Amino acid sequence: MPNLNASENVSVRTLDLLGSDAEYLDPAWDMVKQVKGIHRVDYEECLPGNITLGAIDEATLSGVALLSVMRNVFVIALAVHPDKQRNGIGSLLLRNVEAYATGQNIFEVALEPAASDSVLKFYERNGYAWTRETRPWADPYEMIKVLQ
Ligand SMILES: CC(C)(COP(=O)(O)OP(=O)(O)OC[C@H]1O[C@@H](n2cnc3c(N)ncnc32)[C@H](O)[C@@H]1OP(=O)(O)O)[C@@H](O)C(=O)NCCC(=O)NCCS
Repeated sequence: MPNLNASENVSVRTLDLLGSDAEYLDPAWDMVKQVKGIHRVDYEECLPGNITLGAIDEATLSGVALLSVMRNVFVIALAVHPDKQRNGIGSLLLRNVEAYATGQNIFEVALEPAASDSVLKFYERNGYAWTRETRPWADPYEMIKVLQ
């Protein structure tokens, strides 16, 4: 997977949180629990069969994306450590999510954004748009980005 880094210190890679990367499971959950409506038991049940990308900053996990890969790549959860937010890590993770998708010959990334102005602005700035603007028949609560 191409590693599209925001800075020289941050790298993004897939994580096996239930195996070789178990040391990052608690830090990952500490970030993901910021996303409303997710419980730890459900999060851990989601891990097998889905893909986790982690942004690692000098051996410290600073952000995670949990992805379901089917006809498109669906971002189940995206979260950055509270102390590291607004430093480009969320955008870096999204760029790596998109690179992961195109690497699988998938050209659409979808997500259901939290209803907060800052989260919506974040996704809009990263090129995501409401499906209801382009696809009235699709889930109206999803935002998508079509990849070139
Ligand atoms: C949403 C989130 C993933 C963004 O990650 P990030 O690394 O902070 O985002 P980036 O640094 O790449 O982008 C920052 C831009 O997003 C928007 N933004 C992100 N967080 C914001 C906040 N708390 N207040 C206002 N704007 C915010 C702004 O447009 C900001 O640009 P600016 O700093 O120039 O104003 C992160 O804030 C987060 O983990 N939030 C808690 C979990 C969550 O809500 N996840 C989304 C669930 S759908």
